[in-house]
Amino acid sequence: MSEKTLAIIKPDAVKKGVIGKIISRIEDEKFKITAMRLAKLTKDEAKGFYIVHNDKPFYGPLTDFMSSGPIVLMRLEREDAIAHWRKIMGATDPAKAEPGTLRRLYGSSIENNATHGSDAPETAAWELAYFFKG
Ligand code: CMP
Repeated sequence: MSEKTLAIIKPDAVKKGVIGKIISRIEDEKFKITAMRLAKLTKDEAKGFYIVHNDKPFYGPLTDFMSSGPIVLMRLEREDAIAHWRKIMGATDPAKAEPGTLRRLYGSSIENNATHGSDAPETAAWELAYFFKG
């Protein structure tokens, strides 16, 4: 069954100039990109997006980083989109991510980890609604 997920190309990957490489991989993996935009989040928008982490020690640095430069927001669709996108990204910590995954290829630390993806159907619906109104 076709499923939707939110994918983000984070500020570190945009700065590195790998938007094209990441989108190319997304297409190779047979996702349909059904919405996409470049954005520059305010600190408050980043805090709202990551509100589930507001009690974590990394909440401040994470939301500073996510509002530090342009990002690419995408709605991806395919069968098993949530799990498949997470597999392509690899583990949260690039050092622990499998060779060939996006975080291993383009991330440099657990905070500067190149990409984001929703982790479950409910969070995907919430995250997509946060950035793509309507
Ligand atoms: P992301 O998938 O965008 O979701 C939350 C982010 O918090 C995560 O990727 C990491 O980039 C970031 N983060 C920073 N420190 C940690 C940590 N210790 N554990 C988990 N996530 C962290």
